[in-house]
Amino acid sequence: MENETNTMPRIGDPAPAFRAATTQGTLNFPIDYSGRWIILFSHPADFTPVCTSEFMTFGKMQQEFEELNCQLVGLSVDGLSSHIAWLRTIQDRIHFRDMDNIEIRFPLIDDVSMNVSRLYGMIQPGESETKAVRAVFFIDPKGVIRTIIYYPLALGRNFEELKRVLVGLQTVDAFNVALPADWRPGDEVIDPNPGNMKGVEARWQKAQQPGSDLKCYDWFFCTRELPCDEIYKKIGK
Ligand code: BEZ
Repeated sequence: MENETNTMPRIGDPAPAFRAATTQGTLNFPIDYSGRWIILFSHPADFTPVCTSEFMTFGKMQQEFEELNCQLVGLSVDGLSSHIAWLRTIQDRIHFRDMDNIEIRFPLIDDVSMNVSRLYGMIQPGESETKAVRAVFFIDPKGVIRTIIYYPLALGRNFEELKRVLVGLQTVDAFNVALPADWRPGDEVIDPNPGNMKGVEARWQKAQQPGSDLKCYDWFFCTRELPCDEIYKKIGK
């Protein structure tokens, strides 16, 4: 695959396809993971401290992502032998915070050619022409990009936030709701607008009934309860 130009996939686009060598064998992306959520993320370089702390954190949480039917896939513009040596060093030598003996079981892509990082807009020349920024692509089971987050080289990601985004997207799909600022599983969710005046009025009346789980702040802004156990029963944890 030759791709000399930087492209920037957008939310709602099909995830660009590629074939690449990884620490877990050859990957045909995203088809190898169809039916699963994918988090494709890039890091600037192996054997660097922020990236090491990030990999250890993702490594510690990998089972939580597996239980959410989500495949993690890492990438940097380093080669396979560097990736393998770095992951071995992490497992054998690095004890950081409460993390020790962390084995990375998800694939890490060899992107020495920069073909994949260019395809996904991970090379952002104002930040670095030779390293990928810290990009995170959330891809749904149909292979559609649903969220994109970029961080600069010097700032490590918040992995609880990445998990919150994944659970949030799965909740939106499973319950046909929207999620308010700072939502966490178990918090109230936004009831979708009924779409016509009759429905809006009926909803307003329903919210006034004693014991209703609907709460309306105004005609366009209503929330309802959605308990954690209901969410996890449906999204599969
Ligand atoms: C790091 O992971 O520590 C790092 C990598 C590239 C630039 C700055 C920091």
